[in-house]
Amino acid sequence: MNAPVKNDRAAWLCGPSAKCSLLPKEPNRAWRLVLLGAPGVGKGTQAELLGERLGVCHLSTGDIFREAASPCNRAGTPAMTEALRYMRDGRLVPDSIVWEIVRERAGCIRCRGGFVLDGFPRTLMQARALQQLMNDEGLCIDGVLNYVLPVTEIVLRLSGRRVCEKCKAVFHVTQRAPRVPDVCDQCGGHLIQREDDRPESVKVRLQTYERATAPLIEFYRGLGKLVQISAAGSAEEVFARSLTALEAAITDGLLRSRNPREAIIGLGEDGHSPPRHIEPL
Ligand code: AP5
Repeated sequence: MNAPVKNDRAAWLCGPSAKCSLLPKEPNRAWRLVLLGAPGVGKGTQAELLGERLGVCHLSTGDIFREAASPCNRAGTPAMTEALRYMRDGRLVPDSIVWEIVRERAGCIRCRGGFVLDGFPRTLMQARALQQLMNDEGLCIDGVLNYVLPVTEIVLRLSGRRVCEKCKAVFHVTQRAPRVPDVCDQCGGHLIQREDDRPESVKVRLQTYERATAPLIEFYRGLGKLVQISAAGSAEEVFARSLTALEAAITDGLLRSRNPREAIIGLGEDGHSPPRHIEPL
């Protein structure tokens, strides 16, 4: 099987003047998903896997900020410079800045290829603004996957995370270790620790999550979009659980009505249903 072709997300990462090299293949029904969960629960890892399987773009607001902070992109706007200051401390970037940045990239939200949103929305204001944008565009979020994991596990995942300086691939020193220590499997780049993975920032991020982001669980439950998923186990197990939970939610009519058969066929790259590893939370 050929390796999946990754969308470069150029327009998302660098703004609307950038052009993505890979355009959507016009799937019959694009998936539009939101991933929720505490920092370090594995949203980015699952977004990558879901993006490849469902053929949609992984849209992370954290990635936009990190891209703006990269050494080759130092000429940021004052708003971006301010955003990076908040991020380094583990605090949330103010809603007004985040919304300005997302609105600028509304084309990615409208894109007919669909999306997996990771790290946005993160406050009720952001969730309401997204809902309004979707309504205005006549679009609909298909489901919101909320990943759940004990805090002790989360801290282990964050403290061991390493990111490629060059291609931004994510590893873990023990759980998803690179073949050669500190060297990226994908591009040979150097692996580094994220600035906001320092223990003092992690503490602030976890507190901020409880205060500002956890209320979104009830918001999306109220809209009938919420799918709860245990993030325990390997990334592959969590991925299989995500596909099964999505499929089950569609079959049970919890999410926007879709033809479940179509969803199963659409999910499996090889035409088979994903493996079943569903476990109660
Ligand atoms: P963002 O980049 O969104 O960070 P986050 O939400 O804190 O999430 P993380 O990227 O830390 O974790 P993750 O859940 O994606 O886990 P990952 O897959 O990497 O945001 C960063 C900052 O930007 C925010 O703090 C804020 O300042 C700002 N920001 C961004 N969006 C904003 C917004 N909308 N509003 C305001 N401010 C905003 O996995 C973690 C580690 O675990 C990795 O090492 C991975 O390899 C490993 N791992 C993953 N899954 C497993 C598994 N199943 N088993 C074992 N290890 C695993």
